[in-house]
Amino acid sequence: MATASAARVHDKLDRPLRVLRLSVTDDCNFRCTYCMPKELFGEGYPFLPPAAMLNFEEIGQVVRAAVPLGVTRIKITGGEPLLRPGVHRLIEQIASIDGIEDIGLITNGYHLPRSASYLWKAGLRRITISLDSIDPHTFTRIADRAHGLEAVLEGIDVSIATGFDPIKANMVVQRGVNDGQVLDMARFARERGIELRFIEYMDVGRRHDFDGSLVVANREIRDQLDRTFGIVPLTRDSGDEVAETYEYRDGGGRVGFISSMSEPFCGSCTRLRISADGKAYRCLFSGIGLDLRAILRDQRMTGEERFSALSRELRMFWAGREDRYSELRGNGRPQNGTRREERIEMFRMGG
Ligand code: GTP
Ligand code: 5AD
Ligand code: SF4
Ligand code: SF4
Repeated sequence: MATASAARVHDKLDRPLRVLRLSVTDDCNFRCTYCMPKELFGEGYPFLPPAAMLNFEEIGQVVRAAVPLGVTRIKITGGEPLLRPGVHRLIEQIASIDGIEDIGLITNGYHLPRSASYLWKAGLRRITISLDSIDPHTFTRIADRAHGLEAVLEGIDVSIATGFDPIKANMVVQRGVNDGQVLDMARFARERGIELRFIEYMDVGRRHDFDGSLVVANREIRDQLDRTFGIVPLTRDSGDEVAETYEYRDGGGRVGFISSMSEPFCGSCTRLRISADGKAYRCLFSGIGLDLRAILRDQRMTGEERFSALSRELRMFWAGREDRYSELRGNGRPQNGTRREERIEMFRMGG
């Protein structure tokens, strides 16, 4: 019989599979200009109907099939995952799966005031909140949601009071939009013990008008923080983290940099994304996904046969992986399936 370690899978570039990013809905209550611009995703946009989405039992099957291949970490994402009814029950179910060591959730924070305690009771212990600005005017301009900021700030307070640790905040920085607020955001996060991460604005998805002149290289922000507060780099915990983490010299906590534009990290990318309708994607910039839902709902097979097929297909899919879009984008060699018009939106495949 094969041992667990022999059963693990590496891709064509020798990268193991470790993380599943599970999108539990493609819907969102915000309309961030860089993700789901209101003009394209207006009232009545056809987000996935419930029957098209994997149910929790089916998601559990996917996780169980992925564990023997090497997965130990799960990130619940969206769209906005807190819009999925009962998502805390899914977390509870995943937390009980043998081999899962870590579960995180990434949210825009709006529903945290009412959801935080359920998430905690379900076993979630850490949380990441997207927060591009704490200035009401800028926030509304980016998220296109009046009064959203008040709820998000309350959500952060409630998360702190609930005991989540770490609490991370993700700030996508765009030149001329919120790059003037880097220090304000850093102070805000330091005061609350939150790990702020600066994310370089990316050319992901196909619907929004990506404008390269808005990208701010993280090196610039790193220098600014170093001059103001003093920061020192920490060594990465697991070798496959997307963020480079620093510590404030004065004990003010941690700060991170996700630099997929200026310093791509494809060489250590161990992440498989699963969309809410059950497609698996090997890269954030993929055009083609593996249809797991078709396997999970194939009535010609028994439950056992479906599970074997799922494991087999996932293994082959990862073994055939050679995606490294962020590394290639700079040298003018776009890959198959990553032509802009073929890409899947980030909110659909799981940011
Ligand atoms: P933690 O384990 O909670 O620290 O998560 P993380 O460091 O993987 O980051 P998180 O889930 O908060 O993702 C933050 C952002 O980083 C995403 O929304 C993306 O913008 C970017 N990101 C995450 N994974 C990838 C990736 O594989 N490729 C690229 N290009 N960007 C990524
Ligand atoms: N560039 C960088 N990050 C993005 N996100 C969505 N679109 C982009 C983009 N164009 C990320 C943000 C947000 C998460 C849900 O997805 O980090 O917090
Ligand atoms: Fe919603 Fe997050 Fe996309 Fe903003 S970035 S529209 S909060 S999914
Ligand atoms: Fe991974 Fe693709 Fe992002 Fe590179 S561009 S880090 S391969 S998801």
